[in-house]
Amino acid sequence: MKLSVIYDSKTGNTKQAAEWIAEGMNSLEGVEAKAFSISSVDDEFVTESKGVVIGSPSYVASLTPDLHAWLLSSAKKYSFAGKLGGAFATEQYTHGGGSLVLQEILTMEMVFGMLCYSGGNSFGKPVIHLGPVGVNNNVEEHNGMEQYKDCFEIYGKRFATKAMELLDK
Ligand SMILES: Cc1cc2nc3c(=O)[nH]c(=O)nc-3n(C[C@H](O)[C@H](O)[C@H](O)COP(=O)(O)O)c2cc1C
Repeated sequence: MKLSVIYDSKTGNTKQAAEWIAEGMNSLEGVEAKAFSISSVDDEFVTESKGVVIGSPSYVASLTPDLHAWLLSSAKKYSFAGKLGGAFATEQYTHGGGSLVLQEILTMEMVFGMLCYSGGNSFGKPVIHLGPVGVNNNVEEHNGMEQYKDCFEIYGKRFATKAMELLDK
């Protein structure tokens, strides 16, 4: 089963998170997951993907304008309706709006007819509420993307497990 992780990233943090999610997905037998920047999407691979996870940096507690525009123009093109959908974010501050970014992405996915999944609290710790959010190390010394590596990988694994359970036909 193909799964896609699609992101916008200007300074590499969200790209890194996307690659960790794809690694977690690829740890499952039968899954082929790839991460794509919105500037270099493999159209055929994304269209064939049963699940798509979308990520953005927090820009003023919102998704980036580029990702927003890309989503508006891409949902039909890639037949998002009926695919499993997920969301992730990165931010500079612990309270920098990552959860709001997730809500915006998940809302758009639902409007497109996607089936949204985060795992929630069903697996216990780490409890991934709406999706994983990583805080980079630009400002807060106690944070840093490396600390979120496991969380992004686990999220990818959980998402892929659910995709296989529901959509591997
Ligand atoms: C225009 C702009 C607005 C930003 N707004 C926020 C914000 O509201 N909250 C926050 O925590 N970080 C904010 N950031 C920081 C980015 O979200 C953060 O550095 C993110 O990890 C960058 O992702 P990237 O490396 O994938 O580009 C902003 C950055 C830019 C360039």
